Amino acid sequence: MSETQKIQQLNDLKAQSRLGGGQARIDAQHKKGRLTARERLDLLLDRGSFREVDAFVVHRTHDFNLDEQKYMSDSVVTGWGTIDGRLVYVFSQDFTVFGGSLGEVHAEKICKIMDMAMKNGAPVIGLNDSGGARIQEGVVSLAGYADIFLRNTMASGVIPQISAIMGPCAGGAVYSPALTDFIFMTRNTSYMFVTGPDVVKAVTHEEVTQEELGGASVHSEKSGVCHVAADSEADTLYQIRKLLSYLPQNNMEDAPFHPTSDDPLRMSEELNTIIPDDPNKPYDIKEIIRLIVDDGGFYEIHENYAGNIVVGFARLGGHSVGIVANQPAVLAGVLDIDSSEKAARFVRFCDSFNIPLITLVDVPGFLPGTNQEHHGIIRSGAKLLYAYCEATVPKLTVITRKAYGGAYDVMSSKHIRGDANLAWPTAEIAVMGPDGAVNIIFRRELETAEDPVKRKAELVADYKEKFANPYVAASRGYIDDVIEPKETRPRLINALEMLSNKRDGNPAKKHGNIPL
Ligand code: HXC
Repeated sequence: MSETQKIQQLNDLKAQSRLGGGQARIDAQHKKGRLTARERLDLLLDRGSFREVDAFVVHRTHDFNLDEQKYMSDSVVTGWGTIDGRLVYVFSQDFTVFGGSLGEVHAEKICKIMDMAMKNGAPVIGLNDSGGARIQEGVVSLAGYADIFLRNTMASGVIPQISAIMGPCAGGAVYSPALTDFIFMTRNTSYMFVTGPDVVKAVTHEEVTQEELGGASVHSEKSGVCHVAADSEADTLYQIRKLLSYLPQNNMEDAPFHPTSDDPLRMSEELNTIIPDDPNKPYDIKEIIRLIVDDGGFYEIHENYAGNIVVGFARLGGHSVGIVANQPAVLAGVLDIDSSEKAARFVRFCDSFNIPLITLVDVPGFLPGTNQEHHGIIRSGAKLLYAYCEATVPKLTVITRKAYGGAYDVMSSKHIRGDANLAWPTAEIAVMGPDGAVNIIFRRELETAEDPVKRKAELVADYKEKFANPYVAASRGYIDDVIEPKETRPRLINALEMLSNKRDGNPAKKHGNIPL
């Protein structure tokens, strides 16, 4: 063979590998409203940046006549590329080859790029579209999954790991995405479940569709497994690009600085009138977030799950920050099981990756009731408390209104290493709200009072004056300063800059024992 012929052979082989399972299966994939593995990578990565590895890899199985069906690249496309010029490692499961199922070489390919990502300190993004373990390869497939699970765990907190579910993801296969930092799902065309509708029917007699059991809506609203649900595959991939702009490449770096034309000294007059005079009236904390951060930009995580707490990324003076905020517009901003767990995981992510935390507090306490108690609000609340206590990134707190009871301590208070704790004049920091407090400490007096309604009103007014303000806490230094709401942005940016060289640590240990 001449050199020209050899080059032709190479190009033919590469073209063959790019066809995956063949044109008919590509057409079938498109008919289902889904893109192919390579089309997805084209949308995810900067144009022309993808470098594929292992395009020549084929499976080694002989059983079930599999050696008569070999496809170059096997059922996953792997390699690296860039997003906004920054290196990322990627794998994209190819449903056109054996339904994207995972066998020995599929797992080896994923492990190879995960190992490279760890050595070179860059994120891994996995695009999942797979029928699960390759049935013909038996236990070898299970071993392959376990090899990936181990790497997911070792990489946790070292490099960001992001999963997108863009087709089926079932059985034990769900646990690789579940071990990663963020799960994205595409609405209507993706689903995740440990056991599918047929098994559910056989075991529990429930009739349920794939979408009802594990579609994007279920996981982004009910289970909280999915962090971001997007309407199309293109949007899913765009959302991943957006998220990465807030994250560092690894745990040894800071997130990228994004210069902004939004003045760091900008005051927001609207903030001075945003808190309703009636302390029981709700307002939207997201409005406050948008008024404070650079250009009003807020990238929300878990937008449709546990809405009584809001978490997400933004920038202040060009620096990436993680925001955790009680949401008075949903369940009065109370802390319950779901919101505690949602925020705890977010706080730990930010702490792992050197992203300062901004906490906006308006919390009436923990949600009372047998449902919460019996499902372990004690354990869940402790997760959030633990996450905040353990975090050593700069922690900035602004109390806008209520900070009652244990929830005051939990929400990044001074006592658990808050670095800059500010309060608005509307803040109410106390063991409990005026009404509840008066009912307890003056129960006897109220029982015997001539006019209990009038007496209670007097006692409530007195309590409010004494305790429902930020000054008792400020007089003890638990609050560093009480500020006008409009000053919040400049004060936070100033504090972030003051803390830019912060060094803090935890005692040497193998690892802590967060109440899981
Ligand atoms: C081998 C598979 C496969 C698998 C699909 N295919 N799943 N091959 N192993 N697990 C092949 C099909 O034979 C078919 O090949 C092609 O992929 C497309 O599959 P279809 O069924 O035609 O596609 P569709 O109708 O879209 O249905 C997709 C599906 C279904 C819902 C994913 O294929 C399915 O139910 N597959 C089995 C899922 C499963 O039970 N997996 C094991 C789960 S347990 P041709 O040649 O016709 O194109 C598990 C354990 C993991 O994964 C444990 C980790 C610890």
